[in-house]
Amino acid sequence: MSDYKKKVSGAAGFIRSKLHDSPEIAIITGTGLGEIASSIENPDSISYREIPGFTVSTVESHPGRLIWGKLGGKPVLILQGRFHLYEGYSPLEVSFPIRVLQILKIKTLIISNAAGGLNPLYTAGDIMVIKDHINLTGANPLVGPNHDDWGIRFPDMRQVYDPELAGKAMEAGAAFGIEVKQGIYAGLMGPSLETPSENRYLQRIGADAVGFSTIMEAIAAVHAQMRILGLSIITNMNNPDRPEPTTMEAVIQVAGKSAKKLEAVLSKILEGLDAE
Ligand code: HPA
Repeated sequence: MSDYKKKVSGAAGFIRSKLHDSPEIAIITGTGLGEIASSIENPDSISYREIPGFTVSTVESHPGRLIWGKLGGKPVLILQGRFHLYEGYSPLEVSFPIRVLQILKIKTLIISNAAGGLNPLYTAGDIMVIKDHINLTGANPLVGPNHDDWGIRFPDMRQVYDPELAGKAMEAGAAFGIEVKQGIYAGLMGPSLETPSENRYLQRIGADAVGFSTIMEAIAAVHAQMRILGLSIITNMNNPDRPEPTTMEAVIQVAGKSAKKLEAVLSKILEGLDAE
């Protein structure tokens, strides 16, 4: 067994020994969205540091805790904090938590993130359901020997994001009077933000939003045969013709404000999910 696989199964075994039930749904929370964990019923948690082999996050807004309990009446695992390529983590390190979730038999993965808006019809604070993505990171978590028991060598990427889950997110938004957008997420490595020309380019290739996360996780999760729902909070607008400053503080603030909307949408989606 490779060292990576040993680390994944060690971490999964440790987490399993802590869980009270067997969740089939996991949520990865992004920038400023960690508060979602506060609506979990009977939460229990451990720091990533306590999990053998688990990577520890370096970004302040991503504390790095694994939380479990119930949301919308369903057992869930929440990964509060994630790893980014721009922090210097390899694609395998970024996707490590997804492999742990795969061993824990997670079937549905909900990925949230903060993103810059490119579609001129969007405004800061909007929630966007990810329809598809464009991987511009130059990286891929499946590079290297394929683990056939985890998934196939050349996974089909026609439908990364589950249309049924996307539909449920749209319905959940409508039920709360929240207009939820649907769009294409372009993933870059970062950490430098986009130039106006890059934003124009991203618009031209069909992207509605841009960010520095999600892609590595989504590719590993496709390989792991998970159903994926991706939700972006549009924290700032990237208009190439009228560039405005983007600060991390503003991003976190807008994400924090929209987190309540996202939480409501999320728990409604979970309520409506059938137990498999
Ligand atoms: N670009 C990249 N990532 C982001 C942005 C952005 O404008 N906003 C929030 N995350």
